[in-house]
Amino acid sequence: MSAESAAILSVDRVSIEFAGVRALDDVGFDVPAEGVTAVIGPNGAGKTTLFNCVTGLYRPRGSIRLAGEELLGRPPQACSRLGVARTFQTPALVPELSVLENVMLGAHGRTSGGVLAAMLRSPATRAGERRLAGEAHLLLERLVPEISGHTPVVGLPHRERRLVEICRALLSRPRLLLLDEPAAGSTGGEAREMVDGVVEASREMDATVVLVEHNVPLVLAVARHVVVLDHGRLLAQGPPDVVRRDERVIDAYLGALA
Ligand SMILES: Nc1ncnc2c1ncn2[C@@H]1O[C@H](COP(=O)(O)OP(=O)(O)O)[C@@H](O)[C@H]1O
Ligand SMILES: [Mg+2]
Repeated sequence: MSAESAAILSVDRVSIEFAGVRALDDVGFDVPAEGVTAVIGPNGAGKTTLFNCVTGLYRPRGSIRLAGEELLGRPPQACSRLGVARTFQTPALVPELSVLENVMLGAHGRTSGGVLAAMLRSPATRAGERRLAGEAHLLLERLVPEISGHTPVVGLPHRERRLVEICRALLSRPRLLLLDEPAAGSTGGEAREMVDGVVEASREMDATVVLVEHNVPLVLAVARHVVVLDHGRLLAQGPPDVVRRDERVIDAYLGALA
């Protein structure tokens, strides 16, 4: 493989069941380090389950390697330390905390020193905190300039909540950023603008984006690689213009949209 097409993530023969339902059935594909990979498929296809497997929440059979390192068997914090970050279909923010504090939680795995250093709050610890707060501010200014960091997250509109969660994920400086339906609820132009902004910021931070998204025109516009799941199976994968013409994909998912 050339450096450009090298896989950042390799999913191999991954299967998991829930009460007899095969949520993922022998799924395998590579995520190239370059460009956006989209995961599409009907509701219940296994897209969120796949993210749960990559982030250590579920323990499927098979193998999931991040830049060659096996993720399966590691707890979520270890997957996160290795460079996997994600957002949830329903943003998981801490309601008691402000926007900035929620984003700062993303730096959790980056702060060294541990409990003692935090208690003593040495000058180095304080300088580190200030630096991270600065980074958090920059991310917020870039992706959600319309809200102040001091705003409580409670009561924020859905779009803003998603973007705060994305800022938190990016503050962990991930190598891989998994976005579960980030633009759900946004309309055409707004959704495109949001995803474009996040993809550009991620690229500058060297994070590869994997996007679960139902908005097919958006997927076809932003993805370089498309993975199609259906009933837990890998239905097709490839460049967007190949996948959109695939008969099985049209039958199972795209229909008249293609
Ligand atoms: N924790 C779980 N317990 C029981 N069933 C689950 C669990 N997680 C996922 N599933 C099932 O796995 C299938 C795939 O779900 P999901 O990954 O959420 O689909 P998608 O995100 O593609 O809409 C569904 O049938 C769902 O009910
Ligand atoms: Mg889902």
